[in-house]
Amino acid sequence: MKSTISVLKADIGSLAGHHMVHPDTIAVATKVLSEGKKQGIINDFYPTFVGDDMEFIISHNRGELDQKVHELVWNALKEAASKAKELGLYAAGQDLLSDSFSGNLKGMGPGIAEMEIEERPSEPFVVFMADKTEPGAFNLPLFKMFADPFNTAGLVIDPALHDGFKFEILDVYEGESITLNTPEESYDLLALIGTPDRYIIRRIYRKQDNMLAAVVTTERLNLIAGKYVGKDDPAMIVRVQHGLPALGETLEAFTVPYLVAGWMRGSHYGPLMPVSQKDARATRFDGPPRLVGLGFNLKNGRLVGPSDLFDDPAFDEVRRTANIIADYMRRHGPFMPHRLEPQVMEYTTLPKVMERLKGRFKKEEGTNKAKASIYTSSETNE
Ligand code: 13P
Ligand code: 13P
Ligand code: MG
Ligand code: MG
Ligand code: MG
Ligand code: MG
Repeated sequence: MKSTISVLKADIGSLAGHHMVHPDTIAVATKVLSEGKKQGIINDFYPTFVGDDMEFIISHNRGELDQKVHELVWNALKEAASKAKELGLYAAGQDLLSDSFSGNLKGMGPGIAEMEIEERPSEPFVVFMADKTEPGAFNLPLFKMFADPFNTAGLVIDPALHDGFKFEILDVYEGESITLNTPEESYDLLALIGTPDRYIIRRIYRKQDNMLAAVVTTERLNLIAGKYVGKDDPAMIVRVQHGLPALGETLEAFTVPYLVAGWMRGSHYGPLMPVSQKDARATRFDGPPRLVGLGFNLKNGRLVGPSDLFDDPAFDEVRRTANIIADYMRRHGPFMPHRLEPQVMEYTTLPKVMERLKGRFKKEEGTNKAKASIYTSSETNE
C-alpha cells in the first residue's frame, strides 16, 4: 500500500514579534488534527515549529494534494490563527493569504512538501524546517547530499547511488520547470541553482529507478500576495539509507553555516544555523536563520520518532562559526552584501521608501540609461 508523508506549514502569528509559535496555538491545532485522525482522514501526525512557523508532519494514505487532508490542515491553521488573535500574538494569520478553502492549499499561503511513496521495510526519513529564509536555501545542501562525493561517500562507494540522481528545478519567476541529471549535468544544474532566489530544487529522484528521494516546499509568498508578507521559511522531506544518502550524509551537508537570504525583514543575508528544537526561536536581528532537523521512521503508515538531530555537540562548532559570521555580516548594517540586492528588495517594503525620493532625482546630461536587469541579460548583450 502507498503511504503519503505531508509536511504542511504556515506562520499563523507568533509570540513577542516574529520569534516563536505560542504553545496554545499548537494545542488548538493539535485538537483539530486529532479529530481528523479519529475520523481516519490521517494516520498519524507530529505538530512542531521552527521560529514563528507552525509545522505539521502528517502520514496518511490519500496521496498528494488531497482535498480532505488539506482541508483538515487549513481548519487547524485557521483555529490556531483565531487563538493567535485572541492572545494578541504578532501578525496573527500572517501566511493565510486566502479567506476560503478551495480544493487544496496550493496558492493559499501555507508551504507544502508531500511525497507519496511505497513504504520500504524500514523507511527512515528526515524533515528539515527553516525559519527566516526561503525555499532556495535548500539548494546548496541538497546538491551536497545528492551530487557531491566530498559530502556523500555513498555516491562513490554504493552502487545504488553511483548512477546519480535527477533534480527537478522550478523557475519561480517564469513558472517553468526543468529536470537535470547528475553527475553528467552537474555544472548545468549549478548554473541554475546558484541563483536560489529564482531556481529552486523541488524534487529529487534516484536515477536508477525513479525513486522519489526529496521534496521541498516551493511556495513563494510574495509572488502569491504580490507584496512582502514575510519569508517563505521552507521545509523539506528527505528519505535516507538503503541506496539513498545515509542519515549522517544528509546532516553533513549542514556543517557549513552558508549564507541564505532572509533574516531581518526578509531582506538580509545571514548564516543558516542548525539548532535543536529547544533553540528554534528567532532572536538576534530576528535570527540568525535557523534550521531544525527531525528524524523519523514510517512504519505501516505510522510515524515513529522523532529524534531532534541537531541537538548534538557535533554541531556546536557549526553554531559557533554561524555566530562569528552573524557578527561579521551585521557590521555591514544597511549595506550590501548584507542587505539583499535591489532586484530582490523590490519584493520588500523598500520600493515605498524609494517612491518618496522619485521626484528628487535630476537628469544628468550626457549620460546613458543602463539596462539593469540581470534577468534580461541576453537583450543587454546584443
Ligand atoms: P551500520 O553498519 O551501523 O548500519 O552502518 C551502515 C552505514 O551505512 C553507516 O553510514
Ligand atoms: P517571517 O517570515 O518569519 O514571519 O519573518 C518576517 C520578518 O520580517 C522577520 O524580520
Ligand atoms: Mg512571522
Ligand atoms: Mg517565519
Ligand atoms: Mg515567513
Ligand atoms: Mg546500523
